[in-house]
Amino acid sequence: YDASLSYKVADIELADFGDKEMQLAENEMPGLMAVREKYGPKQPLKGLRVTGSLHMTIQTAMLIDTLKILGADIRWASCNIFSTQDHAAAAIARKGSAAVFAWKGENLEEYWWCTEQALVWPDGSGPHLIVDDGGDATLFVHQGVAVEKDPSLLEKAYDSADEQLLMARLKSSFENDSGRWTRIAESVKGVSEETTTGVHRLYHLSQKGELLFPAFNVNDSVTKSKFDNLYGCRESLADGIKRATDIMMAGKIVVVCGYGDVGKGCAHSMRGYGARVLVTEVDPICALQAAMEGFEVTTMEDAASVGDVFVTATGCYKVITGAHMEQMKNEAIVCNIGHFDNEIAMDYLDNNPKCKKTAIKPQVDMWTLESGRTIIVLAEGRLVNLGCATGHPSFVMSNSFTNQCLAQIELATGDYKTDVYTLPKKLDEEVARLHLARLGVKLSKLNQVQADYLGVPVDGPFKPDHYRY
Ligand code: NAI
Repeated sequence: YDASLSYKVADIELADFGDKEMQLAENEMPGLMAVREKYGPKQPLKGLRVTGSLHMTIQTAMLIDTLKILGADIRWASCNIFSTQDHAAAAIARKGSAAVFAWKGENLEEYWWCTEQALVWPDGSGPHLIVDDGGDATLFVHQGVAVEKDPSLLEKAYDSADEQLLMARLKSSFENDSGRWTRIAESVKGVSEETTTGVHRLYHLSQKGELLFPAFNVNDSVTKSKFDNLYGCRESLADGIKRATDIMMAGKIVVVCGYGDVGKGCAHSMRGYGARVLVTEVDPICALQAAMEGFEVTTMEDAASVGDVFVTATGCYKVITGAHMEQMKNEAIVCNIGHFDNEIAMDYLDNNPKCKKTAIKPQVDMWTLESGRTIIVLAEGRLVNLGCATGHPSFVMSNSFTNQCLAQIELATGDYKTDVYTLPKKLDEEVARLHLARLGVKLSKLNQVQADYLGVPVDGPFKPDHYRY
């Protein structure tokens, strides 16, 4: 940890470009702009320290500026080693909206260093609030506390390099100050979590009785998961594959693993380009949905030798195995759009002396396999839309990040017990409402008779909580 640094980015000279793109994003992010106007004067985050661990893109820069306008004192890191847009990080660093520690192409050791930099203020204090994406900042604090309770955890051998490196970082932190993370955890008022995988981690912690502070599940706001995960991926998956490979999608066979919100966006996107899409699923409901949308639903065992492009979108573990890769056609493209890099068994490639890697360009590698054939792996199995392109467009992220802001305000101003919460439907509807005008939507209005007939208020909420959209 280096208390003397106010930022570490790739190139501060990129700040002008970042500023200009942020200016362009304003028109596409009406929700965030409305939050600034409505809540800015009330300063709900004044005096509060906020740590963010979320892809450091232009859209995130807009979120950071919004949190700043609400009064927060902010430190930020990216939640993925490839997802930072260096001009966005530079813009935030130069104007000092946040102390930012992020660059495209960090190694894992640097990644955890950046996360710690974002979590610890120069005076040794930690955040009051965390904005998390995938749960790594929350994990860092929880593991820090666990180590302080039981230092023998530092001596254990861990399966993944990632965990091993996190523990190495906690070891040096523990040697400097053996009570830091316990103190920090006590001062955290809460975390708002952006994505499906991070939300799974939170519920898991909560069920085990190990969650240390209140949490908002932003992912399950309807205006987040039914928009960002679905329509965001519907555009940014193709962007990632095309910037990486320039491949023609029409006529190709694309295999999408997982038909949840992200998988649905991916499958429909690829079909839109004229690809023939196969889907794999473990959940019969999602499998039936895919089938009734006209997708062929099959298994990886059957699809492996057939597909031209493979996309994992499951949030699960080793969905594409070494055995699958060995069956693939020559120059099949393999990528992941789920949060973590363990959906594809990258360790099979990394640890097998018979597999040979040839780098084509950053985030695009050709692997020659035991089969003698080659496959093209994008972003080393990390999220392809953020690793090989620039993630989702601003408009959809405005929906997600407006939810983030509302959750941060709730945590700052409310009195929440340690549990996992979602935002009320009224606010979910409000987020959607803020994005209608930009698209020229004319919304109909219930009259009192109609509202009474349906049994809902004239101004909503219009649906019960169990409604699925
Ligand atoms: P979800 O839970 O709605 O969908 C995942 C689907 O995968 C489920 O239907 C599940 O039954 C299926 N599945 C699980 N294991 C499987 C297996 N072994 N084989 C086949 N299917 C399997 O989750 P959602 O929201 O679609 O998110 C998926 C992942 O994408 C998560 O890791 C999430 O954090 C991430 N995500 C990534 C984004 C990006 O921009 N790259 C945006 C939003 C979410």
